[in-house]
Amino acid sequence: MASLLFYMSATVLFAQSTVAFNCSINPIYVDIHKRAVHGTDIFQYGSFIGVGTPAQNQSLWPSLSQNITSFASLSYCTNNSTTLKECTKSTGGFFDASTSDTFRELEDFNTLDNDRNGTFDGAYGRDNMHLYTHYFETDGASETRLTDVTIEIAQKGDIAPSIVGIGRESTVLDALYAQGLITGKTYALYIGHGFDRAKGAVNGSNVFGGYDSGRFTGEVHKYPMSPDTKNPMTVRVKDIIINDAAVPNGEVSLFDQAAFPDMKSTPTPFQAEITTDQYPLALPYQITQNFIKHLDAQKDNYWGDNSLKLKSQFNGSLSIVLDDGFTVTLPSEVLSNWSNITPIQDRDENSTSPNYLSTAFLGQIYLMADYEDHSFYLAEAVQKNNMVMPVSWCPKTGAPQAYQRPQQNAWIKQGLIGAVVGGILGGIGISVCAYCFIVAYLRKREEKKIEKDLERSKAAKIEQMEIEEAPEFEGPPKTPKTATPFFWKKRRS
Ligand SMILES: *[C@@H]1O[C@H](CO)[C@@H](O)[C@H](O)[C@H]1NC(C)=O
Ligand SMILES: *[C@@H]1O[C@H](CO)[C@@H](O)[C@H](O)[C@H]1NC(C)=O
Ligand SMILES: *[C@@H]1O[C@H](CO)[C@@H](O)[C@H](O)[C@H]1NC(C)=O
Ligand SMILES: *[C@@H]1O[C@H](CO)[C@@H](O)[C@H](O)[C@H]1NC(C)=O
Ligand SMILES: *[C@@H]1O[C@H](CO)[C@@H](O)[C@H](O)[C@H]1NC(C)=O
Ligand SMILES: *[C@@H]1O[C@H](CO)[C@@H](O)[C@H](O)[C@H]1NC(C)=O
Ligand SMILES: *[C@@H]1O[C@H](CO)[C@@H](O)[C@H](O)[C@H]1NC(C)=O
Ligand SMILES: *[C@@H]1O[C@H](CO)[C@@H](O)[C@H](O)[C@H]1NC(C)=O
Ligand SMILES: *[C@@H]1O[C@H](CO)[C@@H](O)[C@H](O)[C@H]1NC(C)=O
Ligand SMILES: *[C@@H]1O[C@H](CO)[C@@H](O)[C@H](O)[C@H]1NC(C)=O
Repeated sequence: MASLLFYMSATVLFAQSTVAFNCSINPIYVDIHKRAVHGTDIFQYGSFIGVGTPAQNQSLWPSLSQNITSFASLSYCTNNSTTLKECTKSTGGFFDASTSDTFRELEDFNTLDNDRNGTFDGAYGRDNMHLYTHYFETDGASETRLTDVTIEIAQKGDIAPSIVGIGRESTVLDALYAQGLITGKTYALYIGHGFDRAKGAVNGSNVFGGYDSGRFTGEVHKYPMSPDTKNPMTVRVKDIIINDAAVPNGEVSLFDQAAFPDMKSTPTPFQAEITTDQYPLALPYQITQNFIKHLDAQKDNYWGDNSLKLKSQFNGSLSIVLDDGFTVTLPSEVLSNWSNITPIQDRDENSTSPNYLSTAFLGQIYLMADYEDHSFYLAEAVQKNNMVMPVSWCPKTGAPQAYQRPQQNAWIKQGLIGAVVGGILGGIGISVCAYCFIVAYLRKREEKKIEKDLERSKAAKIEQMEIEEAPEFEGPPKTPKTATPFFWKKRRS
């Protein structure tokens, strides 16, 4: 055994030292918004990814902790152990493995997700995945087919199990790289807030093997991935400041002993995992107490996530200062919307669970991860993005570069008006790399007059993101047909 391990690690070392990344492979852009999914007629928010042959399209929530991509089985909601609320409308789609020609069961698979505690249980298999990208709003989605990748089929649980796993050992990133579809294991995420809990409108995106250079602005901050946390992206928080715009000098630090004299000692900077696995932030007990005291918050569980609720309306913001000085501000409409429910979770005094900077935090920033370099980058997100510009990001090549928006006439000078149209169309997912812009532009130019394009873009700008054509629905799953349609057994780690 020892010699086998030695042999394996030697092989890994050898492989690492000889790997040369092909830096000219284009990235794969997959947008995140509400869309039609297989097995129900309720539109759901997530990444446009299909599974099986023929493809059953889903809406997958990205997880930075989960390693294997998972789909809800047809019987997920009829399983009497499932507690997910409004299950048939909330799973992100359903996958019927029995109608996929390429599905294979994995009998003795050891899960890579041992830390996924109390979320859902499932069985494993292999199948094809389809990652969809939009270029022009008038064109259909283009597809990147990932063949024979390990997936999990969730059979019962407490959460929406349609998840694209981008954890440290992501099988999707591994397979994309192994099949030569991306330049290396790099990934970028803007989660957006076009879903119910956030009550926002802005949509998000994934980029595999690259990042969307139009999605962030300002300084890019680098951090090492942590080797031993469930979520590899961790940071240290050195201050949290509440800023009440209605009061002069309305800034109060939740770390400030003078402002909170009940504290036994001044809080020290704390580690927090960046996660999409929950919406509200989980902060240390004392900080949470100070938040409660300062804003007169109370326990609440409207969303089932123990987010604190304010007793009265508050128009201020909350800024989180990381140890390198990078400051992320949750604006007032995120901190306390009409409902006064905040994105800060209540915390038990003796709780030992990690601190989380979660989806509410990610709604403000763009996250770019280089899994080969074990590092990641954060920058302020451009919320209303009119310019989708994914670029390839070769591993270990350093910090991503934000797209520098040119003057419009500079574009015209370069004969790139088609690309400008793309930029204006924006959220439509027009884009991909500049290279694709040009290729697409040259193709389009032959078909249409530039003026026509411009006119069209004005209308499209209002429509923003297109919605996929609704596929033919099978209707929501009804009572289980027979005991279970699955011909393969559940396997626990
Ligand atoms: C690198 O990728 C590009 C684009 O996919 C391809 O044309 C080229 O042949 C690849 N180069 C090598 C050395 O594999
Ligand atoms: C987000 O996507 C939805 C489609 O699901 C679309 O209706 C909406 O306009 C988009 N929002 C923005 C801000 O682009
Ligand atoms: C419910 O889920 C459990 C665990 O995955 C599974 O063993 C059982 O067969 C499921 N029951 C039904 C009725 O689908
Ligand atoms: C759940 O289903 C199993 C098998 O179908 C049954 O034995 C059990 O009593 C059910 N439990 C509840 C709480 O309905
Ligand atoms: C994913 O794999 C990493 C590396 O082995 C592990 O640390 C992490 O806990 C795994 N994720 C889950 C949800 O178990
Ligand atoms: C799993 O969750 C249960 C209940 O939430 C908790 O008691 C247990 O400690 C957790 N286990 C791990 C390994 O996190
Ligand atoms: C806040 O609530 C209003 C009213 O429901 C909603 O229209 C808006 O989108 C919300 N904004 C955010 C950022 O949550
Ligand atoms: C918050 O802002 C809204 C609109 O700007 C205003 O109507 C309201 O009175 C303000 N509330 C407080 C508590 O300042
Ligand atoms: C937390 O632990 C301390 C010390 O063990 C104990 O005195 C206290 O009651 C506990 N608090 C809660 C809420 O359980
Ligand atoms: C899945 O989406 C793709 C791209 O939009 C589409 O071509 C395909 O027909 C869809 N599949 C189903 C079953 O709707």
